[in-house]
Formats: sequence, structure tokens, C-alpha cells
Amino acid sequence: MRVSSTPSSQWTALFVLVSTLCTLFTPAVSVKYENFKTCDQAGFCKRNRAYADTAAATSSWKAPYALTSDSLSWKNGQLKGTILKTINHNGETVRLPITISFLESGSARVTIDEEKRQKGDIELRHNSIARKERYNEVEDWTIIGGLELSKNAVESREGEKTTVTYGPEGKFEAVITFAPFGIDFKRDHATQIKFNDRGLLNMEHWRPKIEKSQPEKKEGEDETPTHEVTSGEDESTWWDESYGGSTDSKPKGPESVSLDITFPGYDHVFGIPEHAGPLSLRETRGGTGAHTDPYRLYNADVFEYIMDSPMTLYGAIPFMQAHRKDSTVGVFWMNAAETWIDIIKQKEAHNPLSLGIGSATDTKTHWFSESGLIDVFVFLGPTPKDVTKAYGELTGYTQLPQEFAIAYHQCRWNYNSDEDVKDVDRKMSKHQIPYDVIWLDIEYTDDKQYFTWDPLTFPNPIGMLEHLDKSDRKLVAIIDPHIKNKEGYQVVKELKEKDLAVHNKDGNIYEGWCWPGSSHWVDCFNPDAIKWWVGLFKYNAFKSLPNLFIWNDMNEPSVFNGPETTMPKDNLHHGNWEHRDVHNVNGLTFVNATYQAMLERKKGELRRPFVLTRSYYAGSQRMGAMWTGDNQANWDHLAAGFPMIINNGIAGFPFAGADVGGFFGNPEKDLLARWYQAGAFYPFFRGHAHIDTRRREPYLVGDPYMGIITQALRLRYALLPAWYTAFHEASVDGTPILRPHYFMYPSDEAGFAIDDQFFVGSTGLLAKPVVTEGATSVDIYIPDNEVYYDYFDFTKYEGQGHKTIQAPLEKIPLLMQGGHIIPRKDRPRRSSGLMKWDPYTLVVVISKNGMASGELYVDDGETFDYESGAYIRRAFEYKDGVLESRNLGTKGKLTDKYLKTMKSVGVERVIIVGAPKAWEGKSSVKAAGKDAALEFHAEEGGKAAWAVVRRPQVAIGEDWKIEF
Ligand code: GLC
Repeated sequence: MRVSSTPSSQWTALFVLVSTLCTLFTPAVSVKYENFKTCDQAGFCKRNRAYADTAAATSSWKAPYALTSDSLSWKNGQLKGTILKTINHNGETVRLPITISFLESGSARVTIDEEKRQKGDIELRHNSIARKERYNEVEDWTIIGGLELSKNAVESREGEKTTVTYGPEGKFEAVITFAPFGIDFKRDHATQIKFNDRGLLNMEHWRPKIEKSQPEKKEGEDETPTHEVTSGEDESTWWDESYGGSTDSKPKGPESVSLDITFPGYDHVFGIPEHAGPLSLRETRGGTGAHTDPYRLYNADVFEYIMDSPMTLYGAIPFMQAHRKDSTVGVFWMNAAETWIDIIKQKEAHNPLSLGIGSATDTKTHWFSESGLIDVFVFLGPTPKDVTKAYGELTGYTQLPQEFAIAYHQCRWNYNSDEDVKDVDRKMSKHQIPYDVIWLDIEYTDDKQYFTWDPLTFPNPIGMLEHLDKSDRKLVAIIDPHIKNKEGYQVVKELKEKDLAVHNKDGNIYEGWCWPGSSHWVDCFNPDAIKWWVGLFKYNAFKSLPNLFIWNDMNEPSVFNGPETTMPKDNLHHGNWEHRDVHNVNGLTFVNATYQAMLERKKGELRRPFVLTRSYYAGSQRMGAMWTGDNQANWDHLAAGFPMIINNGIAGFPFAGADVGGFFGNPEKDLLARWYQAGAFYPFFRGHAHIDTRRREPYLVGDPYMGIITQALRLRYALLPAWYTAFHEASVDGTPILRPHYFMYPSDEAGFAIDDQFFVGSTGLLAKPVVTEGATSVDIYIPDNEVYYDYFDFTKYEGQGHKTIQAPLEKIPLLMQGGHIIPRKDRPRRSSGLMKWDPYTLVVVISKNGMASGELYVDDGETFDYESGAYIRRAFEYKDGVLESRNLGTKGKLTDKYLKTMKSVGVERVIIVGAPKAWEGKSSVKAAGKDAALEFHAEEGGKAAWAVVRRPQVAIGEDWKIEF
């Protein structure tokens, strides 16, 4: 491979300088629309929408795709065959091999390829060296299991269709119709999902470009451009496509794929992050308040993004759930190319007696991607939990993070020096404001050369890390994928010499602009690049200590002078796959390399990595946390955070947060305080700010704000045992951490669209942080007839429906649902690490019928020893006046050793909310056979009776009973 370092033209330099300056100094306004395509400006999007319009307008529309019955073969849970696409009136066809796999887990997978491209039997234009096949490696990055084929699936062919019965107890069916090709997925004989119901299946097959001969030039005429022989279709964007001054050479011609997926009887669809908008996705074609463009998935650096928009953002998870009363189903469209999704909700006159149809609305979706395969997984539920679990079996569950990672992170662009970092650290301690991690943005480096420290401002990184370690605090440093193209920079020298960077369409090293100016991009699709990247993090290569962790930003990738602020689509990655094919999974591959690097920085020092990413794809949840990018310091952005985080959670990536305080602009103090109260409920909780903003560390805001923020932080710290338990659950079965209403109450239609209140894990904590300016109360929706108590003062709320909760500035609306036991640690400390050996408080929240139960998961919060049994998992249960702790763990090699280290960690307090009146006058209980003091507080003015057991002297890791 040839390596060149093309000098950038002066105008590019000027452009970058101007746009960088703009980013730095322009006050926040709104997204730069002109930087990003609308559907009309994206050739394949426009073509597929037009195709849909033609189909809808043609009464006799018959999709030109037919599965040939004689091509079909069934073996071991898999159906293989060939679809013929008729491409002209002469009946010529192209062959599209299809595989339908029925998986042991009950999921199904439909994969459609194109034979000619598959065999490499096509010609590329412009002497391109790109791969000829449709990209078929996205599963290598995305899928980690769950592909075992079903042993019980049964096929039965009959006339023009075939039916496969599969899934748990054979309750699922796929009815495959041959001509036109279509599939109805059924559960309990009722159709839940339909493929190609509207006949929009479309696979743009390979064809050579036919040039029309030059018409003779008449005298006086200008040069006549080459004309193409037209097929009657809109070919204007088939062979090349220009946008914003760059031209995509499209050597493979048109190659988009598309399919309509209908959810009959479902009126809500959720998922397909990342977009700023409501959890329940809106219509995109017609209908009141519909968006005009489809939801777009094309990872991009869309700073200052706008609210309630289908515009693309930084990450993409093409996983959608459809929900109706008592039924949830889902699809995962596994394609990493640019993707758009249209949504129509149509009132249908269903036969009221027809089985399983829940609502009169059908949600009709239409998916199209620029290239790649049609590769779709189908999940038939029936519960939201079944769907997220099945999706996670394929793409993996969320990483169980180190415990510090779910505590509070203090970031800004930038802390200016190692002295500045130590100063912030000291001030946080002085003001008794807990935090675990301080962050360094790009300015810590020597001239934006990653893996180096600025010698003037960070002369002593080791001293700084040692200082932080004294209070068990950590440092996160940013490392981006663009590598500065500079003489004498060892990292770029190696990158070039080893040929590990992304190439341009001609196979030379690609050069573009980002923070460091002229840069190259490490190509983490390349296994050798990963190996090399891992080496760069060793302690002898990147001067640091084990308490340093990593932030991966700009990995969409962001390229300031690239089309739509990213890489040209005809760039080439390892294996000569075009960037077009892999764009949305690119960010994941970079984080994967960093994750590998952080696993074992020193031999034998295996610890759970922490990597924050901005760009992501299905599967990124296995590697770390994400945040919602460059938001703004205003109330709208504060409000947008929860729907976005909740949506990410149900799409399998719950370790999510938004910049607390807002990235661009200076928040008013009220806004900052409310944002910390909200942030205390983000699974990933980090304050961050643009370089151009005023300093806003919590100790700078003055009273009463500093106190309010400290209280919010302490609340998070006190509840860390509950949060960690929720993360554990998410890491073993994919249940989201912030659980939206529909997820918890799938039968309660009144709550399906609620996305501004949520439950935290299985704790029964129901939160609705204030996100509107000046609000002093919130309206919270109580979903059932259980009793709820205010978290702070035990005010009782009873009866299903809307309740008003007073919420002056210092108050977070937070309720406890009766029937739960919530583990806490109440001693305020500087960092979570210093709380490790602190005793627990258990809050027993008694239900209407006098019971409560809960769980706790604990481990060392740092290593992988939990995989060998080094953890505590307890079930707590209160009934008939007895509180009991039972073991839920399974014994492993390291269990005994771990339990020994935890022997002295006990319960210092049990608080019983809704304590029975009969306890009045009682002063002691029997805790593990010994007396312990009981204090009773009678019910008063709407506030529930409560009681406290002090120092019951029971260990957290042991079985015990407390008898009241
Ligand atoms: C991007 C990030 C932001 C970061 C900045 C400088 O804009 O989204 O968080 O501070 O780059 O690295």
C-alpha cells in the first residue's frame, strides 16, 4: 500500500480554522442544518421513498420479488432458498439468496444477499479496489451469542407458502408466502409482525453503467455532458453523488436495501436511538404533527442539536420495539450503513373478534439502508423484558462497570494543569462534595498528540494521579481516533509505517481535519491496528497509573472538512470495505480497541475497563458508557435527557447520561441545580462544559445552590448499592436501569407514552426530576393501587392516577413504591471507594398488604473476580413481622475468600416505612437472636408511620432474621 502525506490546500486550512474558531466562540444557537442531509438530499432515501409512493399509488401493486419454491431447503432450523427479483418487462430476474434461521432462543433471523455481488461477479467503476460483496461482517462486531439454531422448529409446506413453527412451546410461527415474497410472524396464531406487507422490499441489484453515445456537437454549442441510457427510474444519484462540496464516487453503483415491517395492532414504537425526541416515536409521513423526514441513523457530530427531531445524532442502534396492551415485539435491523426509517400509524378497521389484535392502529415502518445485506432479527416477546433479553442474548448485555464509574464524574474542557486538577480535587473535599473522577479533555496533551502530556501544564502526571489516588479518586483522559499528522510524533510515524490507518478511495492513507489539524484515522477494523493500539496504553508508553481511564470521543468519526462532518463514504477500511458499508459500527470498533487496551495494561493486572464513547452501535453496551454529546445549557436540553437515556436503555445500552449543566453556554443557577438533581438519576452521571464557558464546579455556585447540588450528589452516593444492583441486573438479563412505564406496566395503556418519569432498576424508586423552569411541583403518574411514600418525608400517596408532588428547588420528586427493600450507604464520604467497608442501611417500604422484598448485589467493584463467585447477592424479605436475609448467590472458586473480606461489613440501620401501628410503645427487636433498639414514629399529617432499628449487628453477607 502506498503511503502519502498530501499537503492540505490552504483553503482547507482556512476553512478548518474558521469553523474551529466558530465552535469555540460562537454563542450556542442551533444545529447547522445545512451540514446534514435531508432525505431528499440522500439519493437512496429519496429513491426508496419514491418507491413507496409508487407502490401506494398503484392499486395493482405487486412486489417484484418471488421466492422460488423449488429452491427451498430446510435443515436444522434453517430455511434456505432464492428470491427472484424481476427487473424488467421481459421477465429478466436477479437472484437473491435468502436464509431464514430459527434460533434456539426463540428469535428468528432473515438474511437476504445478492448472488452476483456475493460471487464478486461485478465490475467496479473508477478502477476501485473496494470489496465487491455486500458487507457481511457487521455481525462479527455486533453479535456475541444466541445464534444456535432451534432443534424443535418444524417446517410444513403447503401450496404457495410454507409455515415454520418454532419458539417456546412452539407458540411462534413464520408464515412465508412465495409470490410476492412476504413473511407473517405470529404468536399464539395472531400476526404480530409482517415483512413486505406493503410490497416495499427493494434490493438495488448490481448493473453496469451504460453510457449513451455522445450526440454530435453542433456548432456554437458548449461541451455536451455524457448522457446515460435511462431506465425510467431516477438514476441521478446512482453513479455518483455530491453534497456540500464533496463527491462520493460510488464505485458499486446503487445498492440500497429496503423492507417494510408492519406491526398490526401496535400503536407505539420505541427505540432506534439516537435521536432527540420523545420515547414513543412519531410518524414521519402524514398524520398530525408528523416529522417530514424519516428517522435517520448515520452517526455524526451534530453539535447544538435540536429537540424533537428525527435527525441523526452520534450513535445508532437499529433495534425497535413495538408495544400494545400486553404485548411487546421487536426487530433488529443489522446493517451498519446509513439507514432511514419511516413510520406511519394507520387506523385499521380490524375485525374486533380477530385474535390478538390489541388496538385499532397498525404501525407501519419502512427501513432502508444505503448498502449491505438485509439482515433482520425478529423477537416475538410477549413482554418488554422478553424482547430486551432476547436482543441482549445476541448483542450482549451491558458491561458491569467498576463501581466508581457509576458515581459522580467532574469534567470540563479543560482543567488547565495538573495543579488545577489537584486544586479542584482539594476544593471538592474541603466542601465535602463527593466525586469519584476528574476528567481531562484534549488540552492536556502536548499539541493534541494523544498519549503525551503537555510538558508545561502537565509536567507531573504521575504526581497528579498519586494525589487523586489518596482519596481513591480516578482520572479519565480523552483519546480520540484522529492521529495528528506531524513530523516527529512517534504514534503517527508508527501508524503510517505499519499501514494501520483508514485509506482513501485510491488506497492511500486518508488525511482529514479534526482537533489537531491535519490527521489520520486509526482503522480499528484491522486486527493488527487493535494489537498496536493496545500497546500504546501500556504504562511505559503512556505515562500514567492504574487509576487512569479513557474517554473516546469524535469516533463517528468526526472529520471537520469531510462530508457531513465525517469521512467520505468511498474511503476504505481493512479488507477494502468501503466506509459506506461500515460507518455506523465504526465508533464501536474504536472503543473495542481501547477496551482491549484497558483490560490488561500491565501483565496480570486484569481489571474492568471504563471507556466513555460518543459514537456507538448495537453491541457497544458491552464496552462502557455513552453520553448524549454536545447539548446546551437550557431547559429544553435538560428535559430531552431522560427520554433519550430511557430510549437508549430499552435499546440495550442503559449506561447512558447527558452533560450535566449543558455543554454549550452558561446555565443559570436554578438550571444547574435542577440538572444535578436530574443527573443524580442518570446511569452515567457527569458534569461537563465547553472550554468557552465559565467555571461551574459545584463549590463555585454559592448558597443555597451548592448545598442543593451537594444533597443531590449525596443522594446518588447513598443509593449507590441500589444503582450497582440495578447495573448487575442489566448485565445479566438486559433489563434497563431506568425503566419506563410501559416496561413496568405493559397493560396500562394510559402510561405507554410516559418518558419523563421512571423506576430505578427493581428498587421501586419512582423518580420524576424537575426539568421545567420555575416549576415548584410536578404531576406524577402512579400506575397502580399500591401505596407510595415520598422518599424524604414519607408522605403517603395512594390510588392510581396523577398526583401533585411539591418540588421547591431543593426537592427531587422521588417516591418509594410499597413492597420494596432498598439498600443504601448513608455515611457521606469523599468518594465511593472510601465507602467500600461502610455499613448498610436497609429501607423497608411496606406494601398495602404488609410485605416488602428487595435485592442487593455487591462485589469488589473493580475486577472480574465476581465471575468466579466473589460476590454477595442477597434477597431481603419482610413479612409477618420478620425481616430475613437469604443468599441468592451460587458458590464459585472465590466465594469463600470474598465473603471473608466482607465479614465485618454489616447493617447499621433498618428503616421501616409504613410501620404497623401495633409497634407503638415497642422499644426493641430480636436481630439474629440478640436485642436491638427500635424507635417508632407515629403517622402524622399525611406522613406514614416509620420505625428504625439501630445497630442490629447483622452482617451483609450472611443469613439472618430480624423479628419485630
Ligand atoms: C466534542 C465533545 C465534547 C468535548 C470536545 C473537545 O465536542 O463532544 O464533549 O469537550 O469535543 O474534546
